[in-house]
Amino acid sequence: MKVFVAGSKGQLGWELQRTAPAGVEFHGWDLPDLDITDAPQVALLMAQIKPDLLINSAAYTAVDKAEAEVDVAWRVNSDGAGVLAAAAASVGAAFLHVSTDFVFDGSSSRPYQPDAVCAPVSVYGASKLGGELAVMRAHCNATIIRTSWVYSVHGGNFVKTMLKLMSEKPALNVIADQIGTPTWARGLAGLLWQLGQSQGGLQGRPYAGRTLHYADAGTASWFDYAVAIQEEALALGMLTKAIPINPIRTEDYPTAAQRPSYSVMNRDSGWSVSGVAPHWRSQLRLMLRELTEKNTQ
Ligand SMILES: NC(=O)c1ccc[n+]([C@@H]2O[C@H](COP(=O)([O-])OP(=O)(O)OC[C@H]3O[C@@H](n4cnc5c(N)ncnc54)[C@H](OP(=O)(O)O)[C@@H]3O)[C@@H](O)[C@H]2O)c1
Repeated sequence: MKVFVAGSKGQLGWELQRTAPAGVEFHGWDLPDLDITDAPQVALLMAQIKPDLLINSAAYTAVDKAEAEVDVAWRVNSDGAGVLAAAAASVGAAFLHVSTDFVFDGSSSRPYQPDAVCAPVSVYGASKLGGELAVMRAHCNATIIRTSWVYSVHGGNFVKTMLKLMSEKPALNVIADQIGTPTWARGLAGLLWQLGQSQGGLQGRPYAGRTLHYADAGTASWFDYAVAIQEEALALGMLTKAIPINPIRTEDYPTAAQRPSYSVMNRDSGWSVSGVAPHWRSQLRLMLRELTEKNTQ
């Protein structure tokens, strides 16, 4: 199966590349060689490669910066997603598109179902919702996978930022009133490969036209997450001493973008495909172990 992955240098794209199943001919593309907003370039590549499956993990993911760079965020997350979906449709390729829990406003107190009303509160969230609509318009058999709070040993993320700050600062203040679910990009990559093998393969496309939710199991605030990172990192010898971590409120840490206060998704749809629902904390432990091994090599 020929698979074209857009955004192959990002956290998820990198995990997709290293976990590609046997039999997959992997074509990974990213900036500067591929700009997903460049429709003629995308069409040309698609005609040359003729993939069976296209996975879009490319995105503008700088949530705060997007508030000032509205046009770029929309061009990449909405227009670019539509360009890829149209190109995939034109060569008959299946299409998997990755989206976000930030399409929700966070006012719920119960996990969001895939068909819950979307009402993003940030430019990033709105541009990603724009991308979902553009994808569905351009490719009626596409599958959208929403996920949340993604991290990996590759790239920048909350885990790596916390580890750095915990080794440099005497104490940390971390937001305790935003609740979501950390998700290891490795598990998400595994789900995409499972979906890809059913969508891009020859067995029909059971998830065509559907929106699925996938994240690790459990829930956490950023504060819970930071405390867990410190505990696990101390146990692995990645940190030498514990520092105080203080819970604070959102209003005590102003950011350019507003974030949903509760962005927990109901993940049954994704877990029914993956067949597993690993807890975020055990996934965090695995990722930190991998990071330790990487740092000692
Ligand atoms: N990270 C999260 O917490 C999170 C949460 C929920 C959903 N998601 C979604 O999950 C997916 C994967 O996220 P991720 O964390 O892997 O993101 P990431 O690490 O930021 O990777 C995105 C990749 O896309 C590339 N890219 C940006 N603009 C592009 C363009 N015009 N053409 C081609 N490539 C372009 C980026 O390149 P540059 O780095 O050079 O810009 C980067 O390599 C995205 O759809 C994201 O919206 C992420």
